[in-house]
Amino acid sequence: MRRLYVAGNWKMNLNLAEAKALVEGLKKGLAAEAQIDVAVCPPFYMLVALAELLKGTRIGLGAQNCHFEAKGAFTGEISPPMLKDAGCDTVIIGHSERRQYFGEAGELLKKKVVAALGAGLKVIYCIGETLTEREAGRTEAVISRHLREVCGPDVSLDHVTIAYEPVWAIGTGKTATPAQAQEAHACCRSEIAKIYNAAVAAAVPIQYGGSVKPDIARELMSQPDVDGALVGGASLKAANFLGIIEGALAARK
Ligand code: 13P
Repeated sequence: MRRLYVAGNWKMNLNLAEAKALVEGLKKGLAAEAQIDVAVCPPFYMLVALAELLKGTRIGLGAQNCHFEAKGAFTGEISPPMLKDAGCDTVIIGHSERRQYFGEAGELLKKKVVAALGAGLKVIYCIGETLTEREAGRTEAVISRHLREVCGPDVSLDHVTIAYEPVWAIGTGKTATPAQAQEAHACCRSEIAKIYNAAVAAAVPIQYGGSVKPDIARELMSQPDVDGALVGGASLKAANFLGIIEGALAARK
């Protein structure tokens, strides 16, 4: 059975003192034996300090973006080896906010994924349709396009988690229903089976993201193809994030 994986995408929020307090709260609240993978993805400048706090714990550390080159004249960017050096084990790539506000797509995202995996990072690759695309009946086509932008015989999914994040559910308080999430996740999995094969599709974890809250976590993660969550707003408070983790664990009991 695929492991559960809940990650917190803090986006551009918190200051260092708040971040440290949040991490301490998570360390205290997360049972050592819980059968779940957990990670936090803070803003870049906090990574080194938080890596120190997370040493020896089972909470992973992710960045929210990276460049595809290892080094060079790319002002304002950060490379996958630098993220490793900072203590990260994971990086989010292709988040809809990167696609929407920074024009990231296709070829560029593939280069980022390849570079991150090459540097020994795990990747959370985000995909998902906008409201207009959903209303036009294009959800499956968008899922397929986003997956095919990155997936192929030259990219192994061994260290990749897919995060299905419908854009209309992000930060809106409008969570996809468990049935909507399941339908989209099943679509992701069948698309991955077409690109690779059934075994790869069965193994790849698929997180749901978009207004995940503790009260809906259990039902969402009870869906057969929902293997966890990528949490935005609710990951900024220890009690909420831990509540989502509890919901995820309850879904697998
Ligand atoms: P919210 O949970 O705030 O809707 O954000 C989801 C998200 O974008 C996680 O990457």
